[in-house]
Amino acid sequence: MSTYETMSFNLETERLILRPWAESDAADFSALLSERGNGTPPVERIRTSIGELLAATETTGIALLPVERRDGGDFIGYCGLIIGRTTVEEPEIAYELFQHAHGCGYATEAARAVLEAAASTGRKRLWSTVRAWNTPSFRVLEKLGFERDHITTDDNGELVWLTRSLP
Ligand SMILES: CC(C)(COP(=O)(O)OP(=O)(O)OC[C@H]1O[C@@H](n2cnc3c(N)ncnc32)[C@H](O)[C@@H]1OP(=O)(O)O)[C@@H](O)C(=O)NCCC(=O)NCCS
Repeated sequence: MSTYETMSFNLETERLILRPWAESDAADFSALLSERGNGTPPVERIRTSIGELLAATETTGIALLPVERRDGGDFIGYCGLIIGRTTVEEPEIAYELFQHAHGCGYATEAARAVLEAAASTGRKRLWSTVRAWNTPSFRVLEKLGFERDHITTDDNGELVWLTRSLP
């Protein structure tokens, strides 16, 4: 069993709120995923996915969290920690926002709060895996103090691994 504290699932920044998933987020989450360009996942399936995310958090103590704007209270995406390609001890930071909310510094602001929450669990290191073409994501990670570590290759091409130690 992990020796880390459970991550805080309610985070506030100057402009954003990160809070636990609710079933009522399913339609927004589905709309967000549809922006990946592979169609719109059925809301019923996303409701199941939300249940799975909540169940995973029960065992890992880390979470992806919906991101809302404080002004307006609208869902703009998610940000948080996942095991992903790494481990529960040194998880990955992940984020995805609606296109209409890009370019306002929101991902950096949300990820900075997640980084602090990760440090508060006692974790010493985070990772991120980013496709070589994803300039905006590299910029977010650079602003947060992540450094490139190594590159792997899979069926989708090159994957850049970045890491940051936590205070
Ligand atoms: C990655 C993502 C979350 C960034 O969200 P965001 O809120 O726009 O990010 P921020 O505004 O905090 O920072 C983006 C930075 O990238 C820069 N940027 C954006 N597009 C760029 C481009 N084409 N070339 C160079 N820099 C670019 C911005 O100028 C900004 O840097 P700055 O603060 O120095 O000006 C968003 O693009 C997204 O949801 N993408 C799809 C999902 C995804 O790729 N997730 C990450 C998987 S690893």
